[in-house]
Amino acid sequence: MNKKTILDVNVKGKKCLVRVDLNVPMKGGVITDENRINGALPTIKYLMEQGAKVILCSHLGRPYNIFNEKIKKIKPEDEGKSRDELVALTLKKCSLKPVAARLNELLDGKVTFASDVIGPAAEAAVAACKDGEVVLLENLRFHEEETKNDENFCKALARFCDIYVNDAFGTAHRAHASTAGIAQYGLCEAAVAGFLIGKELDVMGGALENPVRPFVAILGGAKVSDKIGVINNLIEKVDTLIIGGAMAYTFFKAKGYGVGTSLCELDKVDLAKELIDKAAAKGVNMLLPVDTVVAKAFPDPIDGAVEVKEVASDAIPEDMMGLDIGSKTREIYADAVKSAKTVIWNGPMGVFENPTLAAGTIAVAKALAETDATTIIGGGDSAAAVKQLGFADKMTHISTGGGASLEFLEGLELPGVACLDNK
Ligand code: 3PG
Repeated sequence: MNKKTILDVNVKGKKCLVRVDLNVPMKGGVITDENRINGALPTIKYLMEQGAKVILCSHLGRPYNIFNEKIKKIKPEDEGKSRDELVALTLKKCSLKPVAARLNELLDGKVTFASDVIGPAAEAAVAACKDGEVVLLENLRFHEEETKNDENFCKALARFCDIYVNDAFGTAHRAHASTAGIAQYGLCEAAVAGFLIGKELDVMGGALENPVRPFVAILGGAKVSDKIGVINNLIEKVDTLIIGGAMAYTFFKAKGYGVGTSLCELDKVDLAKELIDKAAAKGVNMLLPVDTVVAKAFPDPIDGAVEVKEVASDAIPEDMMGLDIGSKTREIYADAVKSAKTVIWNGPMGVFENPTLAAGTIAVAKALAETDATTIIGGGDSAAAVKQLGFADKMTHISTGGGASLEFLEGLELPGVACLDNK
């Protein structure tokens, strides 16, 4: 990585404002998945050990701007609610206070919580913070100036910042005040990456720039339109490109197959043709499913009972829809993974939330778990699938970013990385 990291600066006695991604799932004020907290710990612990004053900031969800004078109502169900009711509801759902309590348990009682991001409560908490201690500021997005990347808000945050550390890979694709803007005004001595961002960039960037070959990418998910940038970028780099998920049906249509009632983006069929041609012109082995699991209707509820059969990909009945890759395809895809030395996977192969439609995603996850190749899971649904199926500890790297890892795989420069000091 060509960016400076926390290892390149002396942090002793310095206020280090660390943007972390503590956007953890919560139910009734209880944290239901601590992965993001655990992911942030190595950087926090290192800075504490080095004697820094660690000022943490994060968003949680997409809450109302309760610190602004006028709260903009965005949810129809909130029409008619008073300001006080909205503030109470927002604090209940999106306050970082429970996260501060958990961090305090994990960090030997050295964490205090500030009930605002800027202003007197935050100033007081930061002023009381000693070397080796931690303050967690309240949810950044309680101020709309955060997502608007407002200059004054950036400058107010910078008061807590001798050294700016970005370790929030999950939000690195956002050009917000705390993820990028703060580093623009020359108010911090240095702007550097934390360990989590460093690892994401080293592993994913290394695979994209200098892969050990054969290099295989597996792309799934519902829509070609969500993955155009990623497919275009990866076609330039991989030896084999595997397509699964509902987006395969748009490619089927491009090949002239009937797709029945499958999800298919008719306005992207020409693009799918172009991508097939581009892969052929580049000598990339593009694999599409040869058989498909079909059903009369999408299961409702999604994990409910569903009657299925398997058909060849060019023989989907008119009144049926494809919902997973078939058994021959599973073998072909697993073989492609076996012969690879580097594999990147983004997007499930079928409706894996339903046990009857999970076989394709399980087969791919299992093949990745069993190979000695470098295996990288590009965040979002595929990361959730790998964890849900129990294969997480078998992967080389599971990205903590959903949107961020997609943009990275597209080859885009992430604002949260671009703003950091070069080496
Ligand atoms: C995520 O959950 O993907 C990150 O925390 C980013 O959240 P956002 O999409 O609300 O910016």
